[in-house]
Amino acid sequence: MLYSGPPAGRGAVEASQTREYLFAEKPVSNPVHREPVGWLQLEGVTRNNLKGLNVDFPLGCFTAVTGISGSGKSSLVSQALLELVGSGLGRAVENDEEPSLEDDMPQTSGGRIGGGLEQIRRLVQVDQKPIGRTPRSNLATYTGLFDHVRKLFAATPAAKKCDYDAGQFSFNVAKGRCPNCEGEGFVSVELLFMPSVYAPCPTCHGARYNPETLAIKWQGLSIAQVLGLTVEQAVEVFAEQPGVLRSLQVLRDIGLGYLRLGQPATELSGGEAQRIKLATELQRNARGATLYVLDEPTTGLHPRDVDRLLSQLNHLVEAGHTVVVVEHEMRVVAQSDWVMDIGPGAGDLGGKVVACGTPQTVAKSKASRTAPFLARELI
Ligand SMILES: Nc1ncnc2c1ncn2[C@@H]1O[C@H](COP(=O)(O)OP(=O)(O)OP(=O)(O)O)[C@@H](O)[C@H]1O
Ligand SMILES: [Mg+2]
Ligand SMILES: [Zn+2]
Repeated sequence: MLYSGPPAGRGAVEASQTREYLFAEKPVSNPVHREPVGWLQLEGVTRNNLKGLNVDFPLGCFTAVTGISGSGKSSLVSQALLELVGSGLGRAVENDEEPSLEDDMPQTSGGRIGGGLEQIRRLVQVDQKPIGRTPRSNLATYTGLFDHVRKLFAATPAAKKCDYDAGQFSFNVAKGRCPNCEGEGFVSVELLFMPSVYAPCPTCHGARYNPETLAIKWQGLSIAQVLGLTVEQAVEVFAEQPGVLRSLQVLRDIGLGYLRLGQPATELSGGEAQRIKLATELQRNARGATLYVLDEPTTGLHPRDVDRLLSQLNHLVEAGHTVVVVEHEMRVVAQSDWVMDIGPGAGDLGGKVVACGTPQTVAKSKASRTAPFLARELI
């Protein structure tokens, strides 16, 4: 597998990425499967085409749920598993989502948890939905690294002389931001007979701050120039600042080194948003055993990005967490610890567990339609 040992050593992360890259295009040979530390047992699950299903998910492992379209994967994982564990833990799923319109008629899953819940402390759904709905949220604010950056600016002699605190360097607070665009950096321009368009703010020219705030420099850079740095550049600039560096390194290591710190969250792709969410979880670390649930996380990702996502998921499992993904990408399934194949058909012809076990076991199943495709990825 990738690497085992203490999580998140930077050397280890890099080494594992190198290995992964070398092996990326080849079939997976002899993966070592992690042993479950327990089982999360769902009993009598009913939801859509699932009719009283009993399933066990291995804890401390990476499980891939497979099956043809309409077989019941999302019903099981994104609906029943999330709801049963969520209500078992006594709180809602953490996915920083506002309730959407689709939730108007919440349909609840039937079934119960037969065991294993006591080994889970948190439940996190990591989806490809945007990480923020306003351009005020960006990579720097979402990951929390901007809090550290603002403190660095407030600690400069020039800022102290002016009595500027960290709030002065927030574009969400009136004192330091550009009054014309209120820190957005752009303004909406109304055109006769045309939809309104956005243009850079004529007062700050997109810098988002007032001139007094921009006059404060940290290592020769204004706060606006820091927001203009890419993650890669920021790693150099903040090399001596552990609080900032840690977040930056995780972002760089998952292939997001090209993103600008101030890039609005609304301009991130679904895959980027999902990897940022995972990166934030990775650096958060050790808040108790967590169950991570992802439904088709590789959709639309380039093979290199699939490898990076896989690498992150493996780090979470190495850190003692449990990961359950619904997945079509057989390269990912082949590298999982446990496969659960749902089917055999779609709709009422599906909704059953056709095969489950290690990828090698499921690849040999005669009943599974996934088996031949999975077998191709295994030696
Ligand atoms: N809200 C719903 N109400 C009734 N039936 C539903 C609902 N959602 C899904 N179904 C049905 O349940 C079955 C399983 O759907 P599900 O979304 O779990 O499939 P899936 O395996 O995730 O498929 P895909 O790979 O296309 O995402 C399908 O026949 C689907 O039409
Ligand atoms: Mg689905
Ligand atoms: Zn402005």
